[in-house]
Amino acid sequence: MILYFSATGNSEYVAKNIAYINNDQTVDMSFYLKSNQIMDLTSDSPYLVVCPIYISTLPTIIIELLKKSKLNGNKNIYFIMTCAGSGVSGADAFIRPLVKDMGLIYRGVEHLSMPQNYLMFFTVKNKEENDIKMQEAISKIPALADKIKNNLDFNMDKVDFMHKISIKPVIWMFDKFFIKPKKFYIKDGCISCSICVNSCPLNNIKLIDGKPIWGKSCVHCTACINRCPKKVIEYGKKTLDKNRYVAIKFKEN
Ligand SMILES: Cc1cc2nc3c(=O)[nH]c(=O)nc-3n(C[C@H](O)[C@H](O)[C@H](O)COP(=O)(O)O)c2cc1C
Repeated sequence: MILYFSATGNSEYVAKNIAYINNDQTVDMSFYLKSNQIMDLTSDSPYLVVCPIYISTLPTIIIELLKKSKLNGNKNIYFIMTCAGSGVSGADAFIRPLVKDMGLIYRGVEHLSMPQNYLMFFTVKNKEENDIKMQEAISKIPALADKIKNNLDFNMDKVDFMHKISIKPVIWMFDKFFIKPKKFYIKDGCISCSICVNSCPLNNIKLIDGKPIWGKSCVHCTACINRCPKKVIEYGKKTLDKNRYVAIKFKEN
C-alpha cells in the first residue's frame, strides 16, 4: 500500500506510477490530515511512504500523522522522498525512530530529484527545465518499484552524527521564524474558484466574501500559491514575478 502526501504533484506522480507498476493501491494522506482522522489501514503488500522533503527531512505533519497511525498487515515500510536537491540528507535520522515507534520494519529511504516548488525561498524553473528534470526522475521510478516487488532494501545509510544533532534546531527555527501565514495575500483577478481552499492539506484557508484568508496553521507546502489558476496569490515580495509549478499527472498507458 502506497501512502502519499503531495502539495504540487511530484510525490503523487511517483506514488501513482509505482502503484501502476506493482499493481498496488494508493492512499492520499491529505484526506486524513484534512479530516483530522487517524489512518487505520491494512495491507498485504509492504507499505511505501512517498512525500516531499521539507528542510532535509519528512514534513512534520507527516511524522505526526504516521506516529498515530495503525498500519496493520505487512510489517515492512519503505520511504521515497521527492526533493529539489540531490539527497535525503537528514531524513534517515527522523525516519528510523518513527518506524521503531510504529512497530514496523524499516526497509530504507530513496530520493528522487524533481522540480523545485518552494518559491517562497527559491526560484521555480521554467517549463522546459522542469520537464527535463521530471523526465529524469520518471526514468528512475521502475527500478524503485522493482526493488519493492523483489523484497530488496532501499538505501539504508545512516545520517552522520553532526547532521543528526544539527537538524532538529534548524527545523524548529524554520517552523517558528520562517513560516508567516500573514504574508499571503491576493492581487486583483481572484475568481473565487476555491482551488486554494481545497488544495490546502490543513484546511487553513477560508473564502470570506469570496476571497481567501489564511489561518495560522500553514506549513508552507505551497499548494495554494502554486495551484492558483490565475497566479494571483503572493507571499510578501518573495514570490513576485516568479514561475509557479504544478507537476504533470500520471497517466496509465
Ligand atoms: C517547505 C518546503 C521545504 C523544502 N525543503 C527542501 C529541502 O530541504 N531539500 C530539497 O531538496 N527540496 C526541498 N523542497 C522542495 C520539495 O521537496 C520538492 O520540490 C518536492 O518534490 C515537492 O513535492 P510535491 O510536488 O509532491 O509537493 C522543499 C519544499 C518546500 C515546500
